[in-house]
Amino acid sequence: MEVVITDSEEEIGVLVADAVEQLLTDRPDAVLGLATGSSPVAIYDELVRRYEVGRVSFARARGFLLDEYVGLPADHPERYRTVIDREIVGRVDFPPGAVQGPDGLAEDPQAAAVAYEQAIHDAGGIDLQILGIGSNGHIAFNEPGSSLASRTRVVALTRQTREDNARFFDGDVDAVPRLCLSQGLGTIMEARHLILVATGEAKAQAVQQLVEGPVSASWPATVMQHHPHATVLLDEAAAARLERLDYYREAYAVKPRWQRL
Ligand code: GLP
Repeated sequence: MEVVITDSEEEIGVLVADAVEQLLTDRPDAVLGLATGSSPVAIYDELVRRYEVGRVSFARARGFLLDEYVGLPADHPERYRTVIDREIVGRVDFPPGAVQGPDGLAEDPQAAAVAYEQAIHDAGGIDLQILGIGSNGHIAFNEPGSSLASRTRVVALTRQTREDNARFFDGDVDAVPRLCLSQGLGTIMEARHLILVATGEAKAQAVQQLVEGPVSASWPATVMQHHPHATVLLDEAAAARLERLDYYREAYAVKPRWQRL
């Protein structure tokens, strides 16, 4: 796992946009894994800037969301499908239908989960997966206790996650759905490159566990320690509790630039 400590969210945006741009240059029909939440916003803004000046195109790319709330109406502004359209999909040239999310309005959500796994498989798998992390160490909506081998399924959200996400629902925790559909940890681990971004001190404990803790379902993101190509980009606040902080800085400083992320 590579750890990159940056000066700002903007720097994270530039570095991850570099990786996405390179991928789309090498393979214009690449499959991107898109995360919602506040963490990837700087990445999406940077990608939109590059699209607007003709540096990057999504015209042949496809995308898959990590997760979706169960039961939010189609026109709800916090439905992840709506959020991702607002943050990136509707601002660049993804063709209609090129980006999919799990169907949180399906009559049979478990069948929708199985269909979603199949869709990812049929697309050839995800080339680059962007991830945030919850303050309790979840990735996508894999809450603590999730099987490290889990697949896309219905998950009950923890109180902590619903409190964290209440800010998107006018501060009303009761307005945050109790169930979601989430790619599993086993699903996420099949993506060819994982890029997790985290900023702010509220993430520092989860980041410390992710990078330096024992692999455990109690901190679901730790499964990434088993991934052959995982990159973690942090700001100073999110990195503050890492024991080997100096080493990560040195390692990145001496890294040959051709190696990229
Ligand atoms: C949410 C999402 C995750 C996201 C995480 C962190 O609950 N389901 O995909 O990574 O929590 O969110 P944020 O980036 O807003 O801190």
